[in-house]
Amino acid sequence: MTFTSSTDQHGPSLSANLCGKTAIVTGSSRGIGAGIAAELGRRGATVIVTYTGEGSRQLAPEVSGTIEEWRSGGKGITLQADITSAVDRQKLVDVAVDSGPTKKIDIVVHNASNGDDCYLKDITDQFFERQVDVNMKAPLFLTQAAVPHMPRGGRIVLITSAAARMGVAETSVNSATKAALESFSSVWATELGQTHGITVNCVSPGPIATEQFHNSSPEFKEALQPLIKSTPAEARMGEVNDIVPLVSFICSEESRWVTGSVISGTGGMLLV
Ligand SMILES: NC(=O)c1ccc[n+]([C@@H]2O[C@H](COP(=O)([O-])OP(=O)(O)OC[C@H]3O[C@@H](n4cnc5c(N)ncnc54)[C@H](OP(=O)(O)O)[C@@H]3O)[C@@H](O)[C@H]2O)c1
Repeated sequence: MTFTSSTDQHGPSLSANLCGKTAIVTGSSRGIGAGIAAELGRRGATVIVTYTGEGSRQLAPEVSGTIEEWRSGGKGITLQADITSAVDRQKLVDVAVDSGPTKKIDIVVHNASNGDDCYLKDITDQFFERQVDVNMKAPLFLTQAAVPHMPRGGRIVLITSAAARMGVAETSVNSATKAALESFSSVWATELGQTHGITVNCVSPGPIATEQFHNSSPEFKEALQPLIKSTPAEARMGEVNDIVPLVSFICSEESRWVTGSVISGTGGMLLV
């Protein structure tokens, strides 16, 4: 796995604006989360890189290793943590607090998700609960555990999805959980704003070329083709590095006047 900085191609970069900060990025073993973790580390943050299963046991240390290679002062701490487990969520918070220079958690990026597709007629209790647990319940309770350790200037980012508004077949539960995160964001922006000095925002990607997308059903991918071809910015799917700079901006000090927002990372894809 190789990570290129989305700013490298434009010469000397913003680089070190997260030095001294500590960030949790859930689901950062691969895909969009891996790109976000690597970039926050490149900007100098200590990043807790999480994975769950055996399949990612090799991948997560590669992300942490990439952070060390940037030599930006950032650190990657690899941790096995299933965010549906209360014990693992607390472990994640404890490790983040212990690992950073200030013993605080400056940034929480809720990226991990279960993206399984299912037609309405086939949804079972088990499918519903599994997806709601990962995509909606875990971010709420991880936020609840992290907030007492977050200083003023803290940043919470929820990775949602354009699917929340698109009405694509097979996304009943997934799109509903993403819409729920958009609601969390606006409520938490109020609850954690003036009192805590924390901003809360969503970054909402359109289709992005990751395993989650490639593992989608053929019908789902087929349904998106006309939209992808007519994407205003370019006739293509998004890439991980189209999303990463939006998140790193939201994590930076410069985004202080942005909260309760949904930042669209869709290339202008037509949404219904
Ligand atoms: N790809 C797209 O087209 C697209 C479009 C819109 C929005 N998004 C959103 O972008 C985010 C990242 O998507 P992606 O495509 O990069 O996904 P991905 O490649 O499937 O990666 C998912 C990540 O989530 C982790 N994860 C899953 N269940 C977890 C759990 N219970 N506890 C902790 N971590 C867990 C996985 O860990 P393991 O590696 O250990 O399994 C993996 O690191 C998601 O929120 C997704 O909904 C993606």
